[in-house]
Amino acid sequence: MSILSEDQIAEYRAKGFVAVPGFLSREEIERLRRDFDEASRVSFRFYGVKDVTPACAQEMKPRLLDVCRALAAGSETRADMLSGAVYWASRKAEAGVTDAWHQDHDSWWLWGENHVDYLHMFIPIAKPDPEKTGLTLAALDRLEAAAPGAHRLTVGQGAMSLKRESGGTTVLVRDTGKKHAFDFDVEALAETPRLAEGDLLLFRGDVFHRTQDRQCDRLAVSFRMARGGTPVRREHLLSWGSLEKFVLSMTNHEKYRYVLEALDRHGDGSPLGEVASYLEAAYERPPRVSFAGLLGQKLRAAASGLLGRRGMGSARAS
Ligand SMILES: [Fe+2]
Repeated sequence: MSILSEDQIAEYRAKGFVAVPGFLSREEIERLRRDFDEASRVSFRFYGVKDVTPACAQEMKPRLLDVCRALAAGSETRADMLSGAVYWASRKAEAGVTDAWHQDHDSWWLWGENHVDYLHMFIPIAKPDPEKTGLTLAALDRLEAAAPGAHRLTVGQGAMSLKRESGGTTVLVRDTGKKHAFDFDVEALAETPRLAEGDLLLFRGDVFHRTQDRQCDRLAVSFRMARGGTPVRREHLLSWGSLEKFVLSMTNHEKYRYVLEALDRHGDGSPLGEVASYLEAAYERPPRVSFAGLLGQKLRAAASGLLGRRGMGSARAS
């Protein structure tokens, strides 16, 4: 029997997300809470997260892959590997970067540009109220109906944010720094699945989402599944895009340095599966690409992008 019902797969296919009640047993919730207390590795700085221990992630992996297989059989998502696992503690009344509508940014830049095959598996393991402090999402089918242009621009993509202004919604594209205004209110599309401890919220990488509210303290585990064959390209990781892209990559510089090191070792365009295995062993020591090395490569990429654009501009003008 499939780990997901036909109805759940159909809902995921239409909306890009689905809630799966009672995914974890009480024992599994306790196991993850103990692991949270014991875990200390932080492979990703910025959001206040810490890594699930490799042993615990390994224990969970077979069930997570079962979910991926069920979705692959009934939707276009083809995720087949665990690309990250972190604990996410959200504190009451503390504003955070995830309060704004967004697609995830770093997965888009670090794991290759493939958010159709990228799954976020979000599971609260300490959450006092199922109706509060979950995640709010904008369903893909409702976005397509309300704003076909915004849907076309954003579907399958990543690293975009939404801003509500003057009755409409503006899409901010971090990869280009461009803004696109649309005549729809994203809050009118907002859906907040009820999530109790142990319930799974499964959503695709291109689905816009935000934190529901900050009314409770909440601890969640977040497993990220991706397609191992996705190529990871140096150019995409290093390109300037927008100031936000530069700031985020400098804030999380260690992760970017590890990935560049993996590409130095295995070649540009290496499959994500290979990059992720390399990183898992490399985390035990500092990255071999220095901060100055990353900064130098970013600035060189920015300069060549600028020159390229100038070149194109003069060619069009002549
Ligand atoms: Fe997010």
